[in-house]
Amino acid sequence: MRLSIQLPGTGERGSDILIEEGAMERALGEMEVLLGGRRPFWIWDERVAALWLDRARELEWPVRSDEGMIRFRFSEANKRLAAIELLARELMRAGADRGGALVAVGGGVTGDMVGFLAAVFMRGIPHFQIPTTLLAQVDSSIGGKTGVDLPEGKNLIGAFHQPRGVWIDPRFLSSLPPEEMRQGMAEVIKTAMIGDEVLWRYVESHSESLRKREPEALARIISGCCLFKAHVVEADEKESGRRRVLNFGHTVGHAIEKVSGYEIPHGDAVAMGMMAATTLAVSWGRFPPADLARLEKLCQFWELPTRLPRALSPERVLDALGADKKRVSGALHFVLPVRIGETVEVIDPDLKDLRKVLESLAG
Ligand SMILES: NC(=O)c1ccc[n+]([C@@H]2O[C@H](COP(=O)([O-])OP(=O)(O)OC[C@H]3O[C@@H](n4cnc5c(N)ncnc54)[C@H](O)[C@@H]3O)[C@@H](O)[C@H]2O)c1
Ligand SMILES: [Zn+2]
Repeated sequence: MRLSIQLPGTGERGSDILIEEGAMERALGEMEVLLGGRRPFWIWDERVAALWLDRARELEWPVRSDEGMIRFRFSEANKRLAAIELLARELMRAGADRGGALVAVGGGVTGDMVGFLAAVFMRGIPHFQIPTTLLAQVDSSIGGKTGVDLPEGKNLIGAFHQPRGVWIDPRFLSSLPPEEMRQGMAEVIKTAMIGDEVLWRYVESHSESLRKREPEALARIISGCCLFKAHVVEADEKESGRRRVLNFGHTVGHAIEKVSGYEIPHGDAVAMGMMAATTLAVSWGRFPPADLARLEKLCQFWELPTRLPRALSPERVLDALGADKKRVSGALHFVLPVRIGETVEVIDPDLKDLRKVLESLAG
């Protein structure tokens, strides 16, 4: 599938996105056109380079491992400004200037960091994304959010910088550890729940093909997610309204991550957050109970938690939600499903109701 994100009136160029088994074979030729004579600097997640460079040569993928290629050990632990400086200095050593462009090959951490580096290096140069985790393919490579963490919290330093091109090849997922697959599936389930009932039914009916990482099935769900995210980003690039729908499951999810001291992975927290929001919607008679059971079943298939762990008290999750609310803008925006594929936004839901829901989900 080929998609393009247009951002009219923003003065920013949009992104061309290609999702297919074979996207990598096409990347070089297409990139050359988009580069318009700029010199590309490929920045690889070291782990992905170790797994894929030899294979890439066999497959005749247009990757270079010589001049203009940087490998870096990207991880959430070094998603920091200090690493951006290191990478910028590597670029200087490699001879990069204002006429360069960056190509990020790796997961969401690589994409966020290389995107941010591109936003600030020489006051901004173009960049391209080649995402290699499910999470990066369905979520983080699309939309232009880039950045790094602070000790005080994740993604607190950043910039909007749209990639010129995104090449998504599902074959990269054949080497992804099951844990990373699971985490990415939480975002797939989220997207289907908020925006695409057809995608939802596809995920339900193709669980086995997806578990076997069949490229065709993967390409189908990645396309569905990218299509939805592209529409949302086009309508609201900088998150003033519509983009908030993407936060389904994330309000409670973030509170859970925080209370656990970030021990609970993001996808797990989002799964619990989706269960909480959906159970709340059911308790208000706004969502069919049978579809809550479908959500639970799908999460269970992907081994995503549907109950809060015993060590996590609902009270502390509510406190964390309250603290977030004070910090943001005084109101809690809560995305609730009304049916599979459609949500509404509720501002400041009754926390007593949410407490009951969290208590009912406590392990
Ligand atoms: N920009 C956005 O809109 C956005 C959205 C969601 C998440 N994010 C960010 O994304 C980050 C998480 O991304 P992630 O989950 O991809 O993490 P990640 O980049 O750390 O990748 C996870 C692990 O998988 C490895 N890996 C990557 N591709 C592989 C492959 N094909 N085979 C084997 N191993 C592979 C990596 O080396 C790493 O160890 C977070 O920092 C989060 O803040 C950004
Ligand atoms: Zn998320």
